[in-house]
Amino acid sequence: HDPIPAACPAGPAGPAPEPPSLFTWEFAADPYPAYAWLREHAPVHRTTLPSGVDAWLVTRYADARRALADGRLSKNPDTHSGRAHAKGKVGIPGERNAELVSHLLNIDPPDHTRLRRLVSKAFTPRRAAAFAPRVQELTDRLIDGFAARGSADLIHEFAFPLPIYAICDMLGVPAEDQDDFRDWAGMMIRHGGGPRGGVARSVKKMRGYLADLIHRKRAELPAEARPGEDLISGLIRASDHGEHLTENEAAAMAFILLFAGFETTVNLIGNGTYALLRNPAQRTLLQESLDRGESALLATAVEELLRYDGPVELATWRFATEPLTLAGERIAAGDPVLVVLAAADRDPARFDGPDTLDLARRDNPHLGFGHGIHYCIGAPLARLEAQTALATLLRRLPDLRLAADPDDLRWRGGLIMRGLRTLPVEFTPER
Ligand code: HEM
Repeated sequence: HDPIPAACPAGPAGPAPEPPSLFTWEFAADPYPAYAWLREHAPVHRTTLPSGVDAWLVTRYADARRALADGRLSKNPDTHSGRAHAKGKVGIPGERNAELVSHLLNIDPPDHTRLRRLVSKAFTPRRAAAFAPRVQELTDRLIDGFAARGSADLIHEFAFPLPIYAICDMLGVPAEDQDDFRDWAGMMIRHGGGPRGGVARSVKKMRGYLADLIHRKRAELPAEARPGEDLISGLIRASDHGEHLTENEAAAMAFILLFAGFETTVNLIGNGTYALLRNPAQRTLLQESLDRGESALLATAVEELLRYDGPVELATWRFATEPLTLAGERIAAGDPVLVVLAAADRDPARFDGPDTLDLARRDNPHLGFGHGIHYCIGAPLARLEAQTALATLLRRLPDLRLAADPDDLRWRGGLIMRGLRTLPVEFTPER
């Protein structure tokens, strides 16, 4: 594979330089120079993805934001890209077999509007806020597991288990079954972008389990709805109040909450911690503000970490429902369009000093959680988890440091998600 030019080539007048190679290992380690090139020379760029599907990449902030809210771009792979989907090249592996495809990220209005309204009733910012003590408890328990050792792999021992236990708790998966989820999730994350057989099996098991759990909870649910129950009960109740959420839809919803809320949060904690370790002055600022008992910088810090190296590199699939023009490029009906959030969030036309980590950044309308009707419904939970995780790490392990050469760290080469495979750290053992 050709290495990617270290800096965006200014390019003397003449033929446009060749586009950088995308989706190589070098690209996975640092895609930002390639994105800078695309923003400048080919802001809407047609490329062949590793799966063999041809898709358009949208890399400028203004175009990306517009595309995310453009009703002519459908999320439904069945109606608009039947062939690629049928070959299993689009969407979540195993989805075709699971009979549970009608989740939020795969549908358009009016179905999307109805389902989103129902899930929003169950998944409220209040429910997330009420969950704060539980997230703190989980965070401390995980750190207890390695604090006395003086070293850890923060991905495997911390960033990975925290979101899976948190979302399982929130959904109402009994504690004794949560380790199964940890295994299935581990399979999904380990093989993301790799062999799909194991992933498809794990997806199927998870969905089977959730369908069964919903069935059981529905039978057990008291006739009088009680507030403050788990999210699955909330989803079932929402369906029982005159509006329609079939058992299948509730299972698909629970699954997508897990699927969308798991690897993303792993990578926000992983990428975020890594960025702090690589930017000592910024990390010190944050640590000092936490020592003073302030939380304002922690809040802007998590937003900045989402912008600077967010977990969702590309938004999920969109398909043109009609021919359209984006930044001068003609896009045919049926063409897949991928909005590159990671590129948009480093666009110098929108952000001052976009390649600088500035935890106090105020003007920060990043696209890390998307934009428009598909805007992340789990954002309050993700923020809570990331803020708790980072603050607790810095408080309990104040001299946390990287225990590897950054050049030796490996990034997952998946398409949608961006994250480290491992994050070895050292610190003075806690006594
Ligand atoms: C949608 C990012 C955590 C559930 C999205 C989208 C993004 C995103 C970019 C829009 C995708 C698109 O338009 O194609 C993130 C990030 C997270 C995170 C960066 C963590 C750091 C969570 C959590 C949950 C969740 C914790 C649930 C527990 C969802 C759902 C959607 C979604 C259900 C689909 C919404 C819809 O289509 O209406 N997320 N997410 N996410 N996210 Fe998140």
